[in-house]
Amino acid sequence: MNFHRLAVFCVCWAVSSSEMQRPEDDPDKDALRYDGFVVLEMTLTSDLQVKLLTDLKEEVRRKEEHGTTTIEEWTGSINKERPFSLLLAPKVAPDVLMLCHKEGIQYEIVWNDLQSVIDLQNAEAVSSSKTDRDDGIAAQTSGMTWARYHRYSTIERYILALPVVHPDLVTIERLGLTYEGRQVWVVKLGKPRSDGIKKPAIWLDAGIHAREWISSATVTFMLNELVTKYTSDPIIRRLVDQVDFYVVPMVNPDGFEFTHQKERLFRKTRRVNPFNACIGVDANRNYDFQWQTERAELRPCEITFGGDFPYSEPENRALFEKVLDLKGDLKSFITFHSHSQLWMLPYGYTFDLTPDDAVVRDLAVNATNALRALYGTVFRVGTSPEILYTSSGTSRDFAKGRTQIKYVYTVELRDTGEFGFLLPAEQILPSGLETFEGVKVIALRIIEEFARN
Ligand SMILES: *[C@@H]1O[C@H](CO)[C@@H](O)[C@H](O)[C@H]1NC(C)=O
Repeated sequence: MNFHRLAVFCVCWAVSSSEMQRPEDDPDKDALRYDGFVVLEMTLTSDLQVKLLTDLKEEVRRKEEHGTTTIEEWTGSINKERPFSLLLAPKVAPDVLMLCHKEGIQYEIVWNDLQSVIDLQNAEAVSSSKTDRDDGIAAQTSGMTWARYHRYSTIERYILALPVVHPDLVTIERLGLTYEGRQVWVVKLGKPRSDGIKKPAIWLDAGIHAREWISSATVTFMLNELVTKYTSDPIIRRLVDQVDFYVVPMVNPDGFEFTHQKERLFRKTRRVNPFNACIGVDANRNYDFQWQTERAELRPCEITFGGDFPYSEPENRALFEKVLDLKGDLKSFITFHSHSQLWMLPYGYTFDLTPDDAVVRDLAVNATNALRALYGTVFRVGTSPEILYTSSGTSRDFAKGRTQIKYVYTVELRDTGEFGFLLPAEQILPSGLETFEGVKVIALRIIEEFARN
């Protein structure tokens, strides 16, 4: 390591990070507020109840102005198999509660003022953002921590610091620019083999959905563990020696920044849709495998709008090209979302199972067992139609269907719907630690099955 270069680097980074930190903390004054928004958990028991609630939702959404949040799924979707929850604007909540009373639908109010939860999510952690943990030089110099949620500028400074601090382990690469011109980065982490033999690779990505902040925090945490504990932890050394990790800490930075500044619960990209005032495409419905075949959403104002055509989104094109490039090397592809605590296998568009479902499922069970062993957090395992809902044009289905990567998963992180997208910052560390236990199981399996001695 060139210490002179590192020292110079630390100084400039420290200066720029303290300068840039402050304005980031405040959302815009005209940010959308969620005062009086309600989260309602419900259990339906009949097809009639499903129909009445779905009709009410459709009617409300038809009347709404340009994508304003009035009623949408918070956990799961409207069904009678399992409980789910809805997010309701104050003007809609009374109608839904009335329907519940009239039809004898069981419900529980999870939150009656979502703005107070939003205010709490990052606030407490800001004061305690200095922890006892030694997160390493890349984190220190960039202002990155896992005690609070950070803006994209901090995450990006951290990404840029990694190859400078760990030149023997890390290279970074630009995948492409977003709609608004931000850079999507991939971090390649792995110790090159001295004999030059190619290593099996694992893909980890996060932040395709803007509001799912914990996904990016968890993935950067795992990345940081891998680089900072390489010399001290024998298992981590084995992983970094034997596997190449390709990590995209933030797939949709435009949407992510928008959730910090304007609308906390925004999900999509920031594309302006021609002929429609509603902004954005659901990037996780925009891949060209079974695009728009299941729950096809053609209305741009809906949160799962899949775009006018596959790969309409530059963020998706950036990822797709890199994954295709790495096709032969990637043995696992894991995309992180929140929330619901699910470890999902392909496919989302059909109930049909893939030919290697048994082993892919078995490994997911092993991963979630290891995850649970740390704090008792339970993750359910299954395909999306089995345990959540059908969906098509997702990155998981693309990774399996187009490139035949063997171990493909979508992981929905903490929690099961209480805080949901607003998971408090104090849960970043436990989420990172437990999820890493699961990912280690998968990485060790990849080594066992694919690494050449
Ligand atoms: C899951 O764990 C069991 C018990 O350790 C092991 O026998 C099995 O091979 C594992 N499955 C996979 C796919 O690694």
